[in-house]
Amino acid sequence: MDGREQAAPLGEGQPGRVRDRGERPGRPRDPEEPAVGGRPAARGPLSAAVLALVTAGPPGSGRLPDPLPPLDDPWGEDHQLALYLCYELHDRGLPGVDPGWEWDPELLRLRRALEQPFLAAVRAEAEPVPPLGEALEGLLTQPPDGTGPSYFLLAEGDRRHAREYLVHRSLYHLKEADPQLWMLPRIHGPAQAVLMAVTYDEYGAGRPERAHSLLFARMMTAFGLDPGYRHYVDLVPAPSLAVVNLMMLFGLHRALRGAAVGQFATIEITSSPGSARLAKALERLGGGPDGTLFYREHVEADAVHEQLVRRGVIEELVAAEPEAAADVAFGIAAAEVVGGRFADHLLDHWRAGRTSLRSPLPDDPA
Ligand SMILES: [Fe+2]
Ligand SMILES: [Fe+2]
Repeated sequence: MDGREQAAPLGEGQPGRVRDRGERPGRPRDPEEPAVGGRPAARGPLSAAVLALVTAGPPGSGRLPDPLPPLDDPWGEDHQLALYLCYELHDRGLPGVDPGWEWDPELLRLRRALEQPFLAAVRAEAEPVPPLGEALEGLLTQPPDGTGPSYFLLAEGDRRHAREYLVHRSLYHLKEADPQLWMLPRIHGPAQAVLMAVTYDEYGAGRPERAHSLLFARMMTAFGLDPGYRHYVDLVPAPSLAVVNLMMLFGLHRALRGAAVGQFATIEITSSPGSARLAKALERLGGGPDGTLFYREHVEADAVHEQLVRRGVIEELVAAEPEAAADVAFGIAAAEVVGGRFADHLLDHWRAGRTSLRSPLPDDPA
């Protein structure tokens, strides 16, 4: 962590309005299946342009502002939300938005305009990228006296910090591991088979109730939070959006598939010890069995996944395509850049006694 912080400017739009659940008409909702939240509120001209375009009418019917609003802060709230909105059209979609917008050339033009400065900013901060062996070694050595959010939560966090942490992480964990699945048709041979085995586990290994996204939803409920997909998106600041956006960026571009492997490896290799700290911290804060299950599950699962990803995915991929090594190393460095910014954001706010969200959560019912 180097103290770089992406402040969450609150003057660019109306932050913090948590919307009603967006129930889908026509099909009774399975009580086990969390609801999907509404459309996020714009945070500036870029995200407003995305929302205006996709709600203007059927795909192909809208035009972006000409010229485009300035793209001068790729880490900013507006830029990150605009990108997140574009990516959601490839994943769950947005309520009231025709799914055909996903491949609309006008929207893709804006997505590309948003992606390029984001990727350039990540690359600039990731330099110099170490060789792959060194990058992997760095992930395997976790300091006992580390300073990240899991260390903070374990040592001095209270329930308010824990609830905020779950809200930030809900943007990814409620869709775990959708962004990584884009890699599967882009990697072949033994690496593909092992990657398939790892991702199969993320969806419960054939037991839907064990899907990691559902375990996370149960944990949110245990902490008095709404487990609806995207329910808290308006509260979640840019540094957390950037974590999810990086996965989607890497996942959706075949040219970045090596980086996607590196990003996934970073999660899987560092997850087991981090999950052990988080399980302990949440237990101390009254999590109970449901409130710790997700992290307890990851202590064991990711100890296995770490081995599979290193030996079965990365080594096999690099054996088949030696030129992929540098891309995998970049993916690891890039994941550390966005992860470091996210961690710095949380810790800077928590240490200053402030909420790390764009506005505070409603009161804890506990
Ligand atoms: Fe998982
Ligand atoms: Fe995993």
